[in-house]
Amino acid sequence: MPDSLVPASLTLSVIGVGYLGAVHAAAMAELGHRVIGLDVDQARIDALSEGQSPFHEPGFDELLRRNVDSGRLTFTTDYTELADVDVHFLALGTPQRDDGLGADLSYIHSALDALTSILEARNGKPTLIAGKSTVPVGTARELHARITSIDGVALAWNPEFLREGFAVEDTLRPDRLVYGVADQSAADQEIGLLDAVYAELLDLEIPRKVYNFESAELVKVSANSFLATKISFINAISELCDVTGADVNDVAEAIGMDDRIGPKFLRAGIGFGGGCLPKDIRGLISRAGELGTVDSFAFLRDIDAINQGRREYVVRLAKRLLEGSVDGKRIAVLGAAFKPDTDDVRDSPALDIALKLYSEGARVIITDPVANENVRGRYPSFHVEDSTEETLRDADLVLLLTEWKQYRDLDPRTAKELVSKAQIIDGRNALDLDTWRDAGWQVEALGRP
Ligand code: UDX
Repeated sequence: MPDSLVPASLTLSVIGVGYLGAVHAAAMAELGHRVIGLDVDQARIDALSEGQSPFHEPGFDELLRRNVDSGRLTFTTDYTELADVDVHFLALGTPQRDDGLGADLSYIHSALDALTSILEARNGKPTLIAGKSTVPVGTARELHARITSIDGVALAWNPEFLREGFAVEDTLRPDRLVYGVADQSAADQEIGLLDAVYAELLDLEIPRKVYNFESAELVKVSANSFLATKISFINAISELCDVTGADVNDVAEAIGMDDRIGPKFLRAGIGFGGGCLPKDIRGLISRAGELGTVDSFAFLRDIDAINQGRREYVVRLAKRLLEGSVDGKRIAVLGAAFKPDTDDVRDSPALDIALKLYSEGARVIITDPVANENVRGRYPSFHVEDSTEETLRDADLVLLLTEWKQYRDLDPRTAKELVSKAQIIDGRNALDLDTWRDAGWQVEALGRP
């Protein structure tokens, strides 16, 4: 599309304002666009409209409030308000299906159903649908077939790589922009509109790559599967360290100095969780099966199994420290979120371990700096404490399972005064072992002597 045909100011929609969509919507408004966020969840829309963030994400509250106050960012549940939108971003969830490992694409299809009459009423005016959700390879091509008959409408797949805890930074300063298009030799409209959306980022020389649909879809799941593989790899090495006396932090440090390997995502511990990595490896296994390449992805089942095994490993370790049984023992769990700086407890290794111990009869007390409400909402009968001191009080065993700064910085001497027995499992290799041992604690760190 020639530059002259790209509207001077763009109106965007973001359909699905969960974690990804809400951050994307606010970030696009921050770039100066008029943005309408749409969701079927009225309560969420009401909160966002008042500038209230439904989740904990550093920097997001200010970003949201600033752009709601400026009037550039509004929210609705009504598709008819999207009539003048030039670019619709699809940011709907693609959760794991109830009946298998694959992704549930029903939210995306419903959104497209609801959007169809809006797109037709544009009467040929250039409009772009840009998918941001993580989808199985082949999805964009299928969706494209649904919209090609509508005059003026194009589809691009524009995956999002944001990390929770760094979502604002990752959206406004991404490592790269990926545009997946139906035909790279005839994608002026897709490239023209996306370049206009991201003009400010392109001025910063953030690399922009134009691929076909399939490559763009695969970039996202490959990246997450690779990260998961790195974590399970170092966790497998960690188990070897435990039986040999090697220190996994030393091994990770030295292999990470080889820049072909790199130091990141080699932190051994209780493994990965959250809304993306576990779901994405399972989605890739499932899709590879459908496409006849399942044997080459058997290793990803092992990556998943190693990761799940880390949770069992900690439960066994807890039993060993408590002379064979956790039944009736008071266990303090520090951390419930799947990682620090988020209140997200989806597939959280910390919460999973806490629940396993609870189901074996332990009196588990769990605390988290920001995720407590989410835990209470999901498990109303679970003992959740707001204060770290009360969590630690009289504990027979402490588990550090999410490496929040306040837990890394705990004073072992003060903590020792509170507990019944000074023994701790450092599930995230976050503590200075000497300091804690000098203060009289028995510390079990995964993969460290
Ligand atoms: C991930 C990807 O990083 C991001 O690019 C993508 O867009 C969405 O999925 P996120 O789910 O926010 O982001 O979390 P991430 O920071 O990747 O951490 C995932 C899990 O791995 C966490 O539970 C974390 O504790 C764990 N982890 C991470 C480790 O156990 N060891 C590490 O070295 C790094």
